[in-house]
Amino acid sequence: MVPLILLTWPSLFLVLVHGLHIPLAEQVVLSSPEPARTGILRRFLIDKSLPGEVKGVIEDLMHAGADLWHASKHQVDVYIPPSVADTPFLSHQGDVEYTDSNVSFFPISTPSPSTWNLSSLSNSTFHESYHTLEDIENFTAQLAELHPDLVKLVNIGHSAEGREMVALEIAKSKGQNKKGHGISESEFAAKKHGFVITGAQHSREWIAVSTAMYLAHALVADASEPHSLASLLNHFDFHMVLVPNPDGYKNRQVVGPNEKCIGLDMNRNWGHKWKPTADFPFALDNTKNKKKKGPNVPTDPCSHWYPGHRAFESPEVNNIANYITTLPRLRTFIDLRAYGQMLSAPFSYTCKRDPKDAEDQIEAAMGAARAIKEVHGTVFTTGTLCEMLYRAPGNVVDYMYAKAGIKYSYAAHLRDTGTYGFDLPPHWIRPVGEETVNMIKSLAHFIVDKKSG
Ligand SMILES: *[C@@H]1O[C@H](CO)[C@@H](O)[C@H](O)[C@H]1NC(C)=O
Ligand SMILES: *[C@@H]1O[C@H](CO)[C@@H](O)[C@H](O)[C@H]1NC(C)=O
Ligand SMILES: *[C@@H]1O[C@H](CO)[C@@H](O)[C@H](O)[C@H]1NC(C)=O
Ligand SMILES: *[C@@H]1O[C@H](CO)[C@@H](O)[C@H](O)[C@H]1NC(C)=O
Repeated sequence: MVPLILLTWPSLFLVLVHGLHIPLAEQVVLSSPEPARTGILRRFLIDKSLPGEVKGVIEDLMHAGADLWHASKHQVDVYIPPSVADTPFLSHQGDVEYTDSNVSFFPISTPSPSTWNLSSLSNSTFHESYHTLEDIENFTAQLAELHPDLVKLVNIGHSAEGREMVALEIAKSKGQNKKGHGISESEFAAKKHGFVITGAQHSREWIAVSTAMYLAHALVADASEPHSLASLLNHFDFHMVLVPNPDGYKNRQVVGPNEKCIGLDMNRNWGHKWKPTADFPFALDNTKNKKKKGPNVPTDPCSHWYPGHRAFESPEVNNIANYITTLPRLRTFIDLRAYGQMLSAPFSYTCKRDPKDAEDQIEAAMGAARAIKEVHGTVFTTGTLCEMLYRAPGNVVDYMYAKAGIKYSYAAHLRDTGTYGFDLPPHWIRPVGEETVNMIKSLAHFIVDKKSG
């Protein structure tokens, strides 16, 4: 069963190997198979072309080895790797409108941990590049060493391949704020709320993990530093899972079509309105019996958006859900994602129903979008996740809102809007971190004001 230890491509999935003892698969660091060449990110505009025409073109591309990166009502992005880019039919796509951009792979050349200097947020070199899982573990350990008063590491279980999953708890201990505020520990504790942030469930969404790390760093950074989030610790305890999918993180290994059929889409595996079917706007599953496809036919395990046999089948999803249930007074949840520049509230599973908290959720999101724009001019749109993307059950945002009872639950799709897509240049890590800091601040202030007013 050798394929089981190969990680998936494009590592949207995590590896599921229940009950089998297998060695940890090597984490393969991204590098271009042909360093001199770039792939094409092709954007189809649905407004101008008919959905049916676009669907046909995309299906052809997928069969040729291209990869769907983003889909919404208005546009679909397909990544065409260098190996496919010379296929002649690529330039014969009828009347379907599209725009191309070149995207290249960014080799990982991380500086040694000893040179990062995490003692300041502004001057650290850490946020200049993407990192391997090993480096992320080192970052986490360093943060805890530098700030033992603020940072606690919590083991929350193991991944499918047996990797340790770690949550970062960033909180001021009760005594710290007691001084000068004249409130008792219990009063202080009663006033603080939980704020949960998760990095990429889909491991190709690198910027989500980098941004989660930037936010963790910003929380422990001295209040005098630009972009510090330290002041929020007076009102919130933060719980962060930087790498929800440690098996898949960073892996871009190209494996054959048979090996694609491992893993599932974590973000369709959460236990609220979970369904074995995954009706995607274009029904692009590469299933053999296309004719039998319909809304009630279980999704092929080879599909990118395979939701699993049952909710919480993914141990990673299960671990995070179990951890969440141990945390008190949760008020806010942010699922960091890529890409599309959107801040989206529940629901994902339906476009027909709005949550009872929709008004507050959207008002807070609109404020957060304005706050993001103030930093570097980046425009975020807001709405429900179903409206912003497409209907998808089993999403983490629905679970956190409807099951975990977290009123302000959002999916934050970070930069960009499709020029680089998932291959966002590393020099954007810091600006994205800075604008996301403002997003967090804005949401936190909205919630604190709401609480007292
Ligand atoms: C992509 O790169 C190729 C080769 O360098 C170039 O011919 C083409 O114009 C580029 N396309 C875009 C959209 O930049
Ligand atoms: C790390 O950064 C801090 C603050 O910027 C500075 O005081 C310190 O000297 C630096 N340490 C090293 C080893 O460069
Ligand atoms: C960052 O480096 C600059 C230039 O060396 C220095 O002036 C500043 O104090 C440093 N900031 C922090 C927070 O250490
Ligand atoms: C991080 O890595 C460096 C260099 O490999 C090592 O010296 C250091 O002990 C590590 N730190 C932690 C906290 O793991």
